[in-house]
This record gives sequence, structure tokens and C-alpha cells, in this order.
Amino acid sequence: MTALSLTKPELFRTSSFISGRWHTVGDSTYPVKNPATGEIIAQVTDHGVPETRAAIEAAEKALPDWRDRTAKDRSKILRRWYDLILQHKEDLARLLTAEQGKVLEEARGEIVYGASYIEWFSEEAKRINGDIIAPPSADKRILVMKQPVGVVAAITPWNFPNAMIARKVAPALAAGCTVVSKPAEDTPLSCLALAQLGAEAGIPDGVFNVVCGLDSPAIGQELTSNPIVRKVTFTGSTPVGKILLAQSAATVKKVSMELGGNAPLIVFDDADLDLAIRGVLASKFRNAGQTCVCSNRLFVQEGIYDEFLERLVKVVDSLVVGNGVEEGVHLGPLIHEKAVAGVHEKVADAIAKGARVIAGGESNENGPCFFAPMVLADVLPSMRLFNEEIFGPVAPVFRFSSETEALRLANADESGLAAYCFTKDMARCFRMAEKLEFGMVGINDGAISNEMAPFGGVKESGLGREGSRYGIDDYLEIKYVSLGGL
Ligand code: SIN
Repeated sequence: MTALSLTKPELFRTSSFISGRWHTVGDSTYPVKNPATGEIIAQVTDHGVPETRAAIEAAEKALPDWRDRTAKDRSKILRRWYDLILQHKEDLARLLTAEQGKVLEEARGEIVYGASYIEWFSEEAKRINGDIIAPPSADKRILVMKQPVGVVAAITPWNFPNAMIARKVAPALAAGCTVVSKPAEDTPLSCLALAQLGAEAGIPDGVFNVVCGLDSPAIGQELTSNPIVRKVTFTGSTPVGKILLAQSAATVKKVSMELGGNAPLIVFDDADLDLAIRGVLASKFRNAGQTCVCSNRLFVQEGIYDEFLERLVKVVDSLVVGNGVEEGVHLGPLIHEKAVAGVHEKVADAIAKGARVIAGGESNENGPCFFAPMVLADVLPSMRLFNEEIFGPVAPVFRFSSETEALRLANADESGLAAYCFTKDMARCFRMAEKLEFGMVGINDGAISNEMAPFGGVKESGLGREGSRYGIDDYLEIKYVSLGGL
């Protein structure tokens, strides 16, 4: 079976989805490539501003009916969508691996991970409750209502082409909003397959629209400036997030931004080293190092520095790189050659400034998008790797001596998404959890993402939270009603 011979061929969609229709007539297309092989796997419609406007208008038209349905009704549709996704997990995973490159086992994990947000918000839909507040005088009552914000623009990245759509669209739909999605141009197929299953689950026409196109800046400009759109939710790089924020300001839209991270992972002398190594594997090499929550800066205390490196090198040397559809492969390719070049540049800077390569290398024997996982020792804060997100399978290891120094180094960055810390000292666990300036902290845990927890960052890593009971708030407005004359 090739990656794209699907059991359910209808999941292979290649055009924008607007108002319940696949929008193909007379349009130009662009190629979507498999990063492992370079093979063109699809030609997808190259849509732009007119289609984005049409999608926004479709979402506006569908809003009143969707918003006014009962929460239970919306919940049932989301639940059906979740069930269908799990039923077609294998096809969705194969599509994902073909367009994004991650190994099939991880792709299956992403389908379940993404679906878990749909399941979660199908349940939360029924728990959007208001409030009655003590009034200032006896003849008044203060009522608080929660209402959907309206039309939502969801702009998503290529690293989790399924889960990031699910994590945004599910709470939006649960809250009663309608959505226009713009998936990353490299990986539109997973999003389109989700739209197909959504329609089969009963999501009404116009409630979930998808625009595919190469001109992301123009589409983004329309989504952030069109007054019909009331909320923009974005996952992606910090520079692009800042542009979208500035553009959204003109019409004062509500915004959620899940931006870049540069996660520290701190290992103290007293840590359980097996646990710490497992934590590094889970947080550093997931998706070949291409996640916002990847540990990027490993700070290891001097007393265990050499032993830790020795153990890390052993595991990293055993990682197998290759095409993600092949058995036994742990790491797939990076998304494109430009991404590989970016990793090379940062590694070269570190080596020029004194870092040592102690595992892996830069071999690309599998093809131009591959980068063999690497461990760098003797890394210093003066190197680019300290303040620049790597987005590749490179583990730079810094040495530190005291807890104060570890905290200072970890916090010395403009990003604040995720941080990790390994120690057996319970008091230190709390000190680190409280003093690390990050939205998410894994203590003795390298796998922190799940639908029950609030995902999001502080500082330049973003605004808002996704998942958990807090995740729906970003799609709701609070209305206060003063009821007088009682
Ligand atoms: C991301 O990299 O943006 C998302 C990672 C996750 O959900 O764990």
C-alpha cells in the first residue's frame, strides 16, 4: 500500500471547502510534496483573497443557525466527528505522514491526540454556564451570559496538520462559533480530510470552511482585516504571530496566539537519570524536533554532566532515521530543505564557537530533507542555539552549577512556552514550577501535551490557552445584563 492508497478515497481532497462545497472550478493548483521522497502527492487549489472572502461570508451566513442550536445538539455532532476520525485513523495517519513526514506511529498518535480535543469540547459544549452576581440594590439583578464570539479565523502550522486544526475548530464549534481555516500550504491534506469527515458527521454547510492557497500573507491579511471575522487564532512562528496581531488590531479582534518556544530542560544532580533521558527523548525528538514545546536547551548540572552525556549519546545513536512509513524508523525528515539549512546554520555557529558534536551528524543519506539526530556538548549562551528555536533534532547541552544559575539561564529568553525540570527534591520541584517564566512546566515529565491541560505560553510565546476547561473561554464573550425594576 502506498501512503495515499486510502481505504476511504473520499478523504483525499485537494480543494478549498466553502459552504459545504469543494471549490474547484477553473482554479490553478500548487503541488504538495512528500518531504521523505520529494514525490508530488497532490495538486491543491491555489486560492486567495476572493475565496477567503467567500469563506468568511459563508461562515457569517451559517452563524445564526449554529449559534442558536442547543449545546447538546452541537455536542452530538462533534461527538460523531470524533467517532468518524477514530474510525478512519489509519487513513488519516497515512495522509499525515505523506504530507508532513513524521513516522507513521507518531502520525497515528497525532490523530488520536487531535481527536481527543474534539471529544473533550463535545463534552465542554454542555458546560458553558453563566452567572448571577449579587446586585448593588434590592431592585436589581446582575446576570452574566456567555456567548460565542462569532466568525473565527484559524491559521494553523505544518508540524501538526491534524491536531492543531482540531484544537482550534473543536472549541470554536462547541461555543457556537463558525470557522474559516487556513492550513499551512505544505500540509493542507489532513485539514481537508477532517473537513470531509466533519461534513459526514453533520457539521452544517458554512460552519467549518477551509481555504487552501500559497499566498498566506494575502489570505492572512484578509482574515485579520475583514470586519466579519471576530476572532483570530494562530499557531506558528513568533514573527508571523506579531504581524497577525498588528493586523488584527485595526478591527480590535479577539486573538489567541500559540507562538514559538525555546524550551529549557534542566537536569539536576539529584535527578532520576533514566527518567530524565526518557524526558529528553519525548520532548526533544518528537516530530524530529519540530514542535513548539520541544526541549531546545538542555541544562545539565556539573556533577552529572559527563554521565548524562554518555547515556544520552547511547540512546541518540540508536535512533533510526528514514521514511516514516517504514517499520523501525524513529525519526522522519524535516519539512523541507530550507528547514534543514536553518538547522545546519545554527549548528555551524555553535561548532565555530567551541561546541563539540558527540553524537549524530549532519548526514543526509536518506535525502535532502533529512537531518540525523545530534548531541552537542559544551554549548554556551553566546551561541545562536541559546536564543533561537532550533526546530530540528539537535540536543545542545549546557553545563550549570547552581539552581540560581539554571533559573537565570532558563528564563533569559523572550519566549515562555514550555520548560522541563528533572529533580527528586520536592521543595525544588515547587520552586522551579513557580519561578520558571513559562506557560507550561513539566516536572519529571517530558510529555506534557493533552486535551485536559491548558496549552499556551507567556511572554512572546503567545496569548490564550487551548484545551482544558479554560480553552473554550477564548471563543466566548461575556455579556453582563443589568435587570432592574424588580
Ligand atoms: C506545537 O508544536 O505547536 C504543538 C505541540 C503540541 O501540541 O504538543
